[in-house]
Amino acid sequence: MQPGKGLHMIQFDTVNKRFPNGTTAVHDLTLEMPEGGVTVLVGSSGCGKTTTLRMINRMVDPTSGTIRVNGKDVLEQDAAELRRSIGYVIQQSGLFPHRTVLDNIATVPLLLGWGRKKARSRAAELLETVGLSADAGKRYPHQLSGGQQQRVGVARALAADPPVLLMDEPFGAVDPVVRTQLQDELLRLQRELNKTIVFVTHDIDEAVRLGDRIAVFRTGGHLVQCAGPAELLARPSDAFVADFLGAERGLKLLSLTPLAEVTQGPAPKGTRWRLTLDAARKPLAWRDTESEAETPVRPLRDTDSLLSALNESISAPSGLVARVDAEGTLTGVTSREDIHDHAGRVHSAASTVEA
Ligand SMILES: Nc1ncnc2c1ncn2[C@@H]1O[C@H](COP(=O)(O)OP(=O)(O)OP(=O)(O)O)[C@@H](O)[C@H]1O
Ligand SMILES: [Mg+2]
Repeated sequence: MQPGKGLHMIQFDTVNKRFPNGTTAVHDLTLEMPEGGVTVLVGSSGCGKTTTLRMINRMVDPTSGTIRVNGKDVLEQDAAELRRSIGYVIQQSGLFPHRTVLDNIATVPLLLGWGRKKARSRAAELLETVGLSADAGKRYPHQLSGGQQQRVGVARALAADPPVLLMDEPFGAVDPVVRTQLQDELLRLQRELNKTIVFVTHDIDEAVRLGDRIAVFRTGGHLVQCAGPAELLARPSDAFVADFLGAERGLKLLSLTPLAEVTQGPAPKGTRWRLTLDAARKPLAWRDTESEAETPVRPLRDTDSLLSALNESISAPSGLVARVDAEGTLTGVTSREDIHDHAGRVHSAASTVEA
């Protein structure tokens, strides 16, 4: 790649990190992180994820090898300046306890000499961006929930609008429900902002949800495989990766496949089950024509996953999935058999799509 071309915002070229005590944290790492994409680093504890991340903004310097950000060797740049140009979010948010939320968010703009007024108005804008009320800005970090503190951490990292965002297990300390919310928020933000994000996690589900690329590490700082989520799930390169992905990797792959790919047709006539609709043709329930009993229907859209469809087809007494458009109007139905057949073809399809 040509420096400055920016196709790969961050490039590791045979990078090694050995700490003075003799620990090799990162071993011969060559890895590219595409511009505007989310690269997730996963692997068990101590496999060198944090060290890899911290070499990007020079909180740790490599023992050998080269790291380029936007085509420029990081070792040729001023460490403090580099750090200010790269957003950094850590677990437990790392906020300053004695500064208000607004002042926490304004930290980097102030360091960059924006002036108080401009820095604060930017901070106020970001509060809204990450889904917090203006009132939260006046509080101190301990007066917020864990999930809210993580949002402030993200807002602070975004304050100077850096092209690169490093996130080290940012959602590791919150409960699963809040965690899913924060992941949704990050995906929404990323659609608007298009940052180059490097995201560290232990959680393979989080990696699959957020990552455009997933890099799997094993102890000793070895990169084992780097691939898109579908390719990784369909074709783990060895038993270590397969084991890490877990026994449910087939189902995880279905969660990435949209239902849109599966055909639909009119509701079959002459069967025991009839789909009832309201005046706007929105599905209401499956009616059993023998007993007149009704079961609520959970209609799915084209953007819903094959996994949701499989789930619905199993729980619906009719074995049929009602499909709707964005307005919720019925477009057709799909049978359990069609969903199952398509699911069976997904593995081979995934490896061709991602290749
Ligand atoms: N400053 C240091 N001095 C010596 N060894 C270190 C230092 N920092 C990290 N290490 C070691 O380097 C290895 C990689 O550490 P690192 O923090 O990068 O792992 P990690 O993948 O982020 O782990 P975790 O998932 O637990 O956060 C570990 O064996 C760790 O003990
Ligand atoms: Mg770590």
